Amino acid sequence: MNVILVGPPGAGKGTQAETIVQTFRIPHISTGDMFRDAVRQGTELGKKAQEYMNAGKLVPDEVTIGIVKERLSQPDCDRGFLLDGFPRTVVQAEALDGIMESLGKRIEVVLNIAVPDEIIIERIVGRRSCKKCNAVYHVKFNPPKVEGICDKCGEPLFQRADDREETAAQRLKVYAEQTNPVLDFYVKKGVVVNIDGNRSRSAVWEDVKKALESYDNN
Ligand code: AP5
Ligand code: MG
Repeated sequence: MNVILVGPPGAGKGTQAETIVQTFRIPHISTGDMFRDAVRQGTELGKKAQEYMNAGKLVPDEVTIGIVKERLSQPDCDRGFLLDGFPRTVVQAEALDGIMESLGKRIEVVLNIAVPDEIIIERIVGRRSCKKCNAVYHVKFNPPKVEGICDKCGEPLFQRADDREETAAQRLKVYAEQTNPVLDFYVKKGVVVNIDGNRSRSAVWEDVKKALESYDNN
Protein backbone atom coordinates (compact mmCIF):
# COMPACT_ATOMS: atom_id res chain seq x y z
CA MET A 1 0.00 0.00 0.00
CA ASN A 2 1.71 3.20 -1.21
CA VAL A 3 0.09 6.20 0.45
CA ILE A 4 0.64 9.97 0.58
CA LEU A 5 -0.68 12.18 3.39
CA VAL A 6 -1.35 15.75 2.29
CA GLY A 7 -2.68 18.61 4.39
CA PRO A 8 -1.65 21.99 5.76
CA PRO A 9 0.77 22.38 8.68
CA GLY A 10 -1.00 21.20 11.84
CA ALA A 11 -3.71 19.27 9.96
CA GLY A 12 -2.88 16.11 11.90
CA LYS A 13 -0.71 14.25 9.37
CA GLY A 14 1.88 13.14 11.93
CA THR A 15 -0.83 12.27 14.47
CA GLN A 16 -2.72 10.04 12.03
CA ALA A 17 0.53 8.64 10.66
CA GLU A 18 1.42 7.14 14.07
CA THR A 19 -1.74 4.99 13.98
CA ILE A 20 -1.60 4.25 10.25
CA VAL A 21 1.90 2.77 10.40
CA GLN A 22 1.09 0.68 13.48
CA THR A 23 -2.11 -0.67 11.95
CA PHE A 24 -0.90 -1.31 8.42
CA ARG A 25 2.76 -2.05 9.27
CA ILE A 26 4.34 0.22 6.68
CA PRO A 27 7.21 2.70 7.25
CA HIS A 28 6.41 6.34 8.04
CA ILE A 29 8.46 8.59 5.78
CA SER A 30 8.16 12.16 7.01
CA THR A 31 10.49 14.60 5.29
CA GLY A 32 9.97 17.05 8.18
CA ASP A 33 11.10 14.41 10.72
CA MET A 34 14.07 13.51 8.49
CA PHE A 35 15.16 17.15 8.32
CA ARG A 36 14.69 17.67 12.09
CA ASP A 37 16.76 14.53 12.82
CA ALA A 38 19.48 15.87 10.50
CA VAL A 39 19.42 19.28 12.25
CA ARG A 40 19.85 17.58 15.66
CA GLN A 41 22.73 15.47 14.37
CA GLY A 42 24.38 18.56 12.84
CA THR A 43 24.86 16.92 9.43
CA GLU A 44 25.40 18.84 6.18
CA LEU A 45 21.77 18.14 5.27
CA GLY A 46 20.66 19.52 8.64
CA LYS A 47 22.71 22.68 8.19
CA LYS A 48 21.17 23.24 4.76
CA ALA A 49 17.58 22.52 5.91
CA GLN A 50 17.57 24.45 9.19
CA GLU A 51 17.55 27.95 7.80
CA TYR A 52 14.61 27.23 5.46
CA MET A 53 12.60 25.45 8.15
CA ASN A 54 13.03 28.17 10.75
CA ALA A 55 11.88 30.74 8.19
CA GLY A 56 8.77 28.65 7.39
CA LYS A 57 9.99 28.10 3.82
CA LEU A 58 10.41 24.90 1.84
CA VAL A 59 13.79 23.22 1.63
CA PRO A 60 14.95 23.28 -2.05
CA ASP A 61 13.43 20.57 -4.25
CA GLU A 62 16.71 18.94 -5.29
CA VAL A 63 17.72 18.35 -1.65
CA THR A 64 14.31 16.98 -0.68
CA ILE A 65 13.86 14.77 -3.74
CA GLY A 66 17.32 13.26 -3.18
CA ILE A 67 16.59 12.09 0.37
CA VAL A 68 13.17 10.68 -0.54
CA LYS A 69 14.57 8.80 -3.51
CA GLU A 70 17.16 7.16 -1.33
CA ARG A 71 14.64 6.31 1.39
CA LEU A 72 12.07 4.78 -0.98
CA SER A 73 14.72 2.46 -2.41
CA GLN A 74 15.25 0.78 0.96
CA PRO A 75 13.88 -2.77 1.36
CA ASP A 76 11.40 -1.91 4.14
CA CYS A 77 9.40 0.05 1.53
CA ASP A 78 8.82 -3.07 -0.59
CA ARG A 79 5.45 -3.79 1.06
CA GLY A 80 4.37 -0.17 0.95
CA PHE A 81 5.04 3.16 2.64
CA LEU A 82 3.38 6.26 4.04
CA LEU A 83 4.75 9.57 2.76
CA ASP A 84 4.00 12.48 5.14
CA GLY A 85 4.85 15.99 3.96
CA PHE A 86 6.14 14.94 0.54
CA PRO A 87 5.55 15.90 -2.23
CA ARG A 88 4.71 19.54 -1.54
CA THR A 89 5.62 21.15 -4.86
CA VAL A 90 4.60 20.07 -8.36
CA VAL A 91 8.30 19.53 -9.17
CA GLN A 92 8.49 17.05 -6.26
CA ALA A 93 5.29 15.30 -7.41
CA GLU A 94 6.65 14.89 -10.92
CA ALA A 95 9.95 13.60 -9.54
CA LEU A 96 8.06 11.12 -7.37
CA ASP A 97 6.28 9.79 -10.48
CA GLY A 98 9.72 9.14 -11.99
CA ILE A 99 10.98 7.43 -8.81
CA MET A 100 7.86 5.24 -8.67
CA GLU A 101 8.27 4.26 -12.30
CA SER A 102 11.91 3.32 -11.80
CA LEU A 103 10.91 1.14 -8.82
CA GLY A 104 7.97 -0.45 -10.68
CA LYS A 105 5.47 1.00 -8.19
CA ARG A 106 2.66 3.54 -8.15
CA ILE A 107 0.94 5.81 -5.65
CA GLU A 108 -2.39 4.19 -4.84
CA VAL A 109 -4.04 6.79 -2.63
CA VAL A 110 -3.54 10.39 -1.51
CA LEU A 111 -5.32 11.27 1.74
CA ASN A 112 -6.03 14.98 1.92
CA ILE A 113 -6.64 16.05 5.53
CA ALA A 114 -8.42 19.40 5.42
CA VAL A 115 -8.57 21.79 8.41
CA PRO A 116 -9.47 25.52 8.29
CA ASP A 117 -6.63 28.00 8.86
CA GLU A 118 -8.20 29.50 12.01
CA ILE A 119 -8.09 26.11 13.78
CA ILE A 120 -4.55 25.38 12.71
CA ILE A 121 -2.66 28.11 14.57
CA GLU A 122 -3.92 26.89 17.98
CA ARG A 123 -2.93 23.32 17.10
CA ILE A 124 0.56 24.34 16.04
CA VAL A 125 1.33 26.70 18.92
CA GLY A 126 0.25 24.05 21.49
CA ARG A 127 2.09 21.17 19.87
CA ARG A 128 4.84 19.34 21.74
CA SER A 129 6.97 16.69 20.03
CA CYS A 130 9.31 13.94 21.16
CA LYS A 131 12.92 14.38 20.06
CA LYS A 132 13.58 10.68 20.13
CA CYS A 133 10.54 8.96 18.57
CA ASN A 134 8.85 12.01 16.91
CA ALA A 135 5.52 11.30 18.68
CA VAL A 136 3.17 14.31 18.63
CA TYR A 137 1.21 15.79 21.57
CA HIS A 138 -0.80 18.94 22.28
CA VAL A 139 -0.89 20.77 25.61
CA LYS A 140 -4.72 20.89 25.45
CA PHE A 141 -5.99 18.44 22.79
CA ASN A 142 -3.65 15.52 23.42
CA PRO A 143 -1.56 16.04 26.57
CA PRO A 144 0.99 13.43 27.63
CA LYS A 145 0.31 11.49 30.86
CA VAL A 146 3.21 13.28 32.58
CA GLU A 147 3.69 16.91 31.56
CA GLY A 148 6.66 17.39 29.23
CA ILE A 149 7.49 13.66 28.94
CA CYS A 150 6.79 11.33 26.01
CA ASP A 151 4.33 8.54 26.92
CA LYS A 152 5.98 6.18 24.47
CA CYS A 153 9.69 6.50 25.22
CA GLY A 154 10.01 8.64 28.38
CA GLU A 155 12.13 11.34 26.69
CA PRO A 156 11.50 15.07 27.27
CA LEU A 157 9.15 16.82 24.84
CA PHE A 158 10.11 20.00 23.00
CA GLN A 159 8.47 22.74 20.99
CA ARG A 160 9.52 22.86 17.34
CA ALA A 161 11.46 25.98 16.32
CA ASP A 162 8.97 26.57 13.47
CA ASP A 163 5.92 26.39 15.77
CA ARG A 164 5.88 30.08 16.71
CA GLU A 165 2.75 31.90 15.54
CA GLU A 166 4.50 34.08 12.89
CA THR A 167 6.33 31.12 11.36
CA ALA A 168 3.15 29.04 11.37
CA ALA A 169 1.36 31.80 9.41
CA GLN A 170 4.20 31.86 6.89
CA ARG A 171 4.01 28.06 6.52
CA LEU A 172 0.27 28.30 5.80
CA LYS A 173 0.98 30.86 3.09
CA VAL A 174 3.63 28.62 1.53
CA TYR A 175 1.19 25.70 1.66
CA ALA A 176 -1.50 27.64 -0.21
CA GLU A 177 0.94 28.82 -2.87
CA GLN A 178 3.11 25.76 -3.44
CA THR A 179 1.30 22.68 -2.14
CA ASN A 180 -2.33 23.26 -3.19
CA PRO A 181 -1.29 22.71 -6.85
CA VAL A 182 0.07 19.28 -5.80
CA LEU A 183 -3.43 18.34 -4.73
CA ASP A 184 -4.77 19.27 -8.19
CA PHE A 185 -2.00 17.12 -9.70
CA TYR A 186 -3.33 14.06 -7.83
CA VAL A 187 -7.02 14.95 -8.26
CA LYS A 188 -6.43 14.69 -12.01
CA LYS A 189 -5.02 11.19 -11.47
CA GLY A 190 -8.19 10.24 -9.54
CA VAL A 191 -6.38 9.06 -6.39
CA VAL A 192 -7.41 11.70 -3.81
CA VAL A 193 -9.63 10.88 -0.82
CA ASN A 194 -10.72 13.96 1.16
CA ILE A 195 -10.84 13.67 4.95
CA ASP A 196 -12.42 16.27 7.25
CA GLY A 197 -9.59 16.84 9.75
CA ASN A 198 -11.55 19.30 11.88
CA ARG A 199 -12.93 16.65 14.23
CA SER A 200 -11.60 14.55 17.09
CA ARG A 201 -8.50 12.43 16.42
CA SER A 202 -10.55 9.24 16.71
CA ALA A 203 -13.26 10.46 14.30
CA VAL A 204 -10.58 11.39 11.76
CA TRP A 205 -8.92 8.01 12.27
CA GLU A 206 -12.19 6.15 11.52
CA ASP A 207 -12.34 7.79 8.07
CA VAL A 208 -8.62 7.30 7.44
CA LYS A 209 -8.89 3.62 8.32
CA LYS A 210 -11.93 3.12 6.10
CA ALA A 211 -10.18 4.82 3.20
CA LEU A 212 -7.05 2.67 3.55
CA GLU A 213 -8.55 -0.75 4.25
CA SER A 214 -9.38 -1.41 0.61
CA TYR A 215 -5.74 -0.88 -0.38
CA ASP A 216 -4.27 -3.14 2.29
CA ASN A 217 -3.08 -6.36 0.74
CA ASN A 218 -0.40 -7.30 3.28
P1 AP5 B 1 6.65 19.12 8.37
O1 AP5 B 1 7.30 18.54 9.54
O2 AP5 B 1 6.17 18.25 7.27
O3 AP5 B 1 5.49 20.05 8.89
P2 AP5 B 1 4.08 20.44 8.27
O4 AP5 B 1 3.68 19.87 6.96
O5 AP5 B 1 4.09 21.91 8.33
O6 AP5 B 1 3.08 19.73 9.17
P3 AP5 B 1 3.16 19.61 10.71
O7 AP5 B 1 4.10 18.53 11.11
O8 AP5 B 1 3.34 20.98 11.29
O9 AP5 B 1 1.65 19.19 11.04
P4 AP5 B 1 0.95 17.80 10.99
O10 AP5 B 1 -0.07 17.82 9.90
O11 AP5 B 1 1.90 16.66 11.02
O12 AP5 B 1 0.14 17.89 12.36
P5 AP5 B 1 0.34 17.10 13.75
O13 AP5 B 1 -0.18 15.70 13.62
O14 AP5 B 1 1.69 17.32 14.29
O15 AP5 B 1 7.62 20.19 7.70
C1 AP5 B 1 8.34 21.12 8.46
C2 AP5 B 1 9.30 21.90 7.56
O16 AP5 B 1 10.24 20.99 6.94
C3 AP5 B 1 8.65 22.62 6.36
O17 AP5 B 1 8.14 23.89 6.73
C4 AP5 B 1 9.83 22.71 5.39
O18 AP5 B 1 10.72 23.72 5.76
C5 AP5 B 1 10.52 21.37 5.61
N1 AP5 B 1 10.00 20.34 4.70
C6 AP5 B 1 9.37 19.18 5.08
N2 AP5 B 1 8.99 18.48 3.98
C7 AP5 B 1 9.39 19.21 2.89
C8 AP5 B 1 9.26 19.01 1.51
N3 AP5 B 1 8.64 17.94 0.98
N4 AP5 B 1 9.78 19.95 0.69
C9 AP5 B 1 10.42 21.03 1.18
N5 AP5 B 1 10.56 21.30 2.50
C10 AP5 B 1 10.04 20.38 3.35
O19 AP5 B 1 -0.75 17.89 14.64
C11 AP5 B 1 -0.54 19.25 14.99
C12 AP5 B 1 -1.04 19.49 16.42
O20 AP5 B 1 -2.45 19.30 16.47
C13 AP5 B 1 -0.47 18.49 17.43
O21 AP5 B 1 -0.25 19.15 18.64
C14 AP5 B 1 -1.58 17.43 17.58
O22 AP5 B 1 -1.56 16.83 18.88
C15 AP5 B 1 -2.82 18.25 17.35
N6 AP5 B 1 -3.88 17.48 16.68
C16 AP5 B 1 -3.75 16.56 15.69
N7 AP5 B 1 -4.95 16.08 15.31
C17 AP5 B 1 -5.88 16.74 16.07
C18 AP5 B 1 -7.31 16.69 16.13
N8 AP5 B 1 -8.04 15.90 15.34
N9 AP5 B 1 -7.92 17.52 17.02
C19 AP5 B 1 -7.21 18.35 17.83
N10 AP5 B 1 -5.85 18.43 17.82
C20 AP5 B 1 -5.19 17.63 16.94
MG1 MG C 1 4.00 16.50 11.00
